[in-house]
Amino acid sequence: MSSDQSGAIAGTAVPSPGLNAAAGDAAENFVQIVDIVKKFGETAAVKGVNLSVKKGELFALLGSSGCGKSTLLRMLAGLESITSGKILIDGEDLAQLPPYRRPVNMMFQSYALFPHMTVEANVAFGLKQEGVPKSELKDRVQTALDLVQMGRFAKRKPHQLSGGQQQRVALARSLVKRPKLLLLDEPMSALDKQIRQRTQIELVNILDKVGVTCMMVTHDQEEAMTMADRLAVMSEGEIVQLGTPHEVYEYPNSRFSAEFIGSTNLFDGNVVEDEPDHVFIETPDLPVRLYVSHGITGPLGMPVTISVRPERIALTRKPPEGAYNWGKGVVTNIAYMGGYSLYHVKLDAGKTVIANVTSLALTEIDPPTWGDEVYVRWSASAGVVLTS
Ligand SMILES: Nc1ncnc2c1ncn2[C@@H]1O[C@H](COP(=O)(O)OP(=O)(O)O)[C@@H](O)[C@H]1O
Ligand SMILES: [Mg+2]
Repeated sequence: MSSDQSGAIAGTAVPSPGLNAAAGDAAENFVQIVDIVKKFGETAAVKGVNLSVKKGELFALLGSSGCGKSTLLRMLAGLESITSGKILIDGEDLAQLPPYRRPVNMMFQSYALFPHMTVEANVAFGLKQEGVPKSELKDRVQTALDLVQMGRFAKRKPHQLSGGQQQRVALARSLVKRPKLLLLDEPMSALDKQIRQRTQIELVNILDKVGVTCMMVTHDQEEAMTMADRLAVMSEGEIVQLGTPHEVYEYPNSRFSAEFIGSTNLFDGNVVEDEPDHVFIETPDLPVRLYVSHGITGPLGMPVTISVRPERIALTRKPPEGAYNWGKGVVTNIAYMGGYSLYHVKLDAGKTVIANVTSLALTEIDPPTWGDEVYVRWSASAGVVLTS
C-alpha cells in the first residue's frame, strides 16, 4: 500500500528495508503465485489462487481428483497458459521468460523415461540439449545418480528397473538440471503401497540434501502430511486452508478441511455462551453442553460445528463426572487396527461417534464389546469450533 492511498498511515515512518530484510523477504516469497486463474472454456479449473512458497521448502497441494492441483502445477511449469494473474520465481515473472529459460523442472506421474535409453543417457538428455560440455555433463550425471543411489544402475534400461528405481532416475533427471523450483505431480502414484512410505521418506531426505524448493501435488493426505513442510488444501479450484501439517490437522478452519485431513467427529450446535477463554455450545447430539476452551467471534445463538478427533475421545464404562463434553451410547462396531481400535459408539440421540482407543487404554477399562453401553468423553482443549 502506498501512503497516498491511505490517509491512516500517512506520516507514519516506514523503515526502509535493509539488505537483509530484502533478502529475507525474497526467501519467504521465493515462489509467488498471485491471483492465478485458469479457465478451460467457460469453466474455471483454478479460481484466483494466491500462494507464496519459501526457499528450500517442500510445499504440497492436496485435494481430491479434479480440484485443479495439476493445472496449477502445469502453469508453474509453463506447460499451461495462464488465464490471468502472475507467477514470480525468485523475483522473475515467468511470463517474461521463454520456456527454455524457466528455472523450473517437472517430474511427471509416469516418470516419462525414454525406454530405449540407458539410465545414464536419460539423465544426461536434458543437459545435452542445453549444450553442457561433455566433461561437466559426465560429472553432473554421476553426481545426480549417486544422490539417488542409482550410480550402480547407470547402464541399465528403464524396463530393467523396479518402479521405485525408475522414480529415482526420474528424480535424478530433474535435479541434474539444477532447477530453482522442482515440481512433482503425484510422485508416488505408480508405486505399491508398501514401498510408497519408505520412498516418501527417502525423497524428503534427498530434497533436503539438495536444498531445492519443491512443490508437489497429491490427493493422498498421509503423503502430504508426511512429506510437506507446509500444505494447501484445495477444493474446486480454490485454497481452503494453508499451514503446516500440524496446524491444518489440529486447527482445521472448516468442515471441509477437518474431514479431508484425517477423520473427525462433527457436532452441530449453537453458541450459548461466548467468553474470551471459552465457549459453550448446545447440541442435540449430547445430553450435556459442549465446552471448548477458547473463544470465537460471533453472536450468541450462532450455528457452529465442533470437530473432535477420534484420538481425543476416551471411552469409559462409568458415567463421566463433568457437566460437559460427554455422551452415552452403545458400541455398534469395533475395528481392530493392531496398536489401536476404532470404536463406533451410537449415542442415545442417534449420532455415531468414533473413538480411537489405544490397546494400552483398552487394558485399563475391561475392553467393551459389541452392544455394550459405554460413555465417550473429551477435554475442553480437544474440540475445535468451525464456523464454515
Ligand atoms: N486440458 C483441459 N481441458 C479442459 N479441461 C481440463 C483440462 N485439464 C484439466 N481440465 C479440467 O480442470 C479441472 C481440474 O483438473 P486437474 O487440474 O487435472 O485436477 P487434479 O490434478 O486436482 O485432479 C478438472 O475439472 C478437469 O477436467
Ligand atoms: Mg492431477
